[in-house]
Amino acid sequence: MNAIEQARQVLFARYGELENKADILKAPELRELYATIPNLDASERSAFGQAVNALQLELKSKVASESVVEKPLLPIDVTAPMDINTAVPSLLLAEQGSQHPLTQEIERVVDIFGRMGFVAEESREIDNQHHMFETLNFPKGHPARDDYDTFMTVEADSEGEPFVAPAHTSTMQNRILKKYYANLVDGEPIAAIVPDRVFRNEDLDARHEHTFYQVEGVYVAKGVHAGMLVATLQKFLEEYYQQKLEVRVNPFYFPFTEPSFEFALSCPFCENGCSVCSNSKWIELLGCGMIHPNVLKAAGIDPSVYTGFAFGCGIDRLVMMKHNIEDIRHFESAKLDFLRQF
Ligand code: DAH
Repeated sequence: MNAIEQARQVLFARYGELENKADILKAPELRELYATIPNLDASERSAFGQAVNALQLELKSKVASESVVEKPLLPIDVTAPMDINTAVPSLLLAEQGSQHPLTQEIERVVDIFGRMGFVAEESREIDNQHHMFETLNFPKGHPARDDYDTFMTVEADSEGEPFVAPAHTSTMQNRILKKYYANLVDGEPIAAIVPDRVFRNEDLDARHEHTFYQVEGVYVAKGVHAGMLVATLQKFLEEYYQQKLEVRVNPFYFPFTEPSFEFALSCPFCENGCSVCSNSKWIELLGCGMIHPNVLKAAGIDPSVYTGFAFGCGIDRLVMMKHNIEDIRHFESAKLDFLRQF
């Protein structure tokens, strides 16, 4: 019996006992088969590779066909104005209530990063322009400030600048770098995430909301490089979507990272294109990069000794893809018809 057939029997036997059927796709036997391919004689390689792929596909379709099909979400018109003549919906008894879908998923995100060694910090709902811009290498008059149009207070800070509702969780980078500076002195990395609410002065539609959530990530130590950034995000997304994913980075621009990337993942929901990925098989998900030396310096960290990566990911988008939610405005709509589906 050849190695593939042997692995096939072992995997199918194990499949029945697995609580989470998708775990079979992470089996070490499968990984070992793939690992042997480069060492094979050139004449055998292609047939062997195809047979391993066929086994993986067979397992994937078994997992897909037997996983619980979730009830499709009910469509609700989130933009409908309040009708005061509609019957008051019967309120839930407290014990029948449920967590908001975003809260459920934020807990999941915190748990996954927590297992990877990241502590979680909260952001703020009002911040100053110093943290929104200056510490992130957007000096006064920098054109990229216009990309972060948000709401301002009438009150101003000691420099006469109005306070802002933060347009991204990156406002917390400087505070995190300072708070955990001692980690570096002790030879430990700074590893933190900030999952929290952010605000933008947006024209609202199915993909844009004035209030939404991001998770920021910051990792600084000696010798950190972009490969670690990509691997960390890939691991996180594979754990979040419970499957192997391919990832890709394209060059981008943010003032607070150099180099900066736009990070995309292979669509977790299709092989050949679907509505979630607009038939492209890839989903542009988040911004990331290597922390700019000026951002490290603003926190008193010597960029010639330490390097780090940072990323910022929209949580609403992650959750919309996971639950097939078609309109971001559901989250803040407070409509019970929507919330009761979770
Ligand atoms: N703050 C950026 C935004 O909201 C996202 C982002 C990009 C965060 C790159 C980062 C980063 O930490 O390194 O558009």
